Amino acid sequence: MRWHPYLGARGRIFNNDTTWQQETNRTSGLTRILEVYPRLTEEFLQVATTSEIQADKMKMVQYKDQSICLANSAGKYYAIRNTCTHLGGPLAQGKLEDHTVECPWHGSRFDLTTGEVKRGPAQTPEQVYEVKVEGTAILIRPK
Ligand code: FES
Repeated sequence: MRWHPYLGARGRIFNNDTTWQQETNRTSGLTRILEVYPRLTEEFLQVATTSEIQADKMKMVQYKDQSICLANSAGKYYAIRNTCTHLGGPLAQGKLEDHTVECPWHGSRFDLTTGEVKRGPAQTPEQVYEVKVEGTAILIRPK
């Protein structure tokens, strides 16, 4: 594809096998990718500092309007939506064991890395968040 010297973008000269419509579809593909994978547009936000959450403890924090259970498991941080998918129990008040959190209300267990249900009665996985630590700041965004 080349640019027309006088018409600029509107005058792009395409290869024989590329039409204007195909080119338009290709460039609008980025918009579609961002619709399909919204996390690419989600920003990391600081939700806590490392001094606020001791080893093998959990704490409820806020990411935008969402309550999040932030866990420190042996010095590695995990973030999972705080509201249990069973009946809404507060996961941050439950038990932390290795890479799972147990809901304090009826004992459902969720994998902190994937949100997968490890034990019922919950049947729906939890939303998990990507975590990064910059200095003493803990930042998260949806996975
Ligand atoms: S509310 Fe969490 S297991 Fe029932």
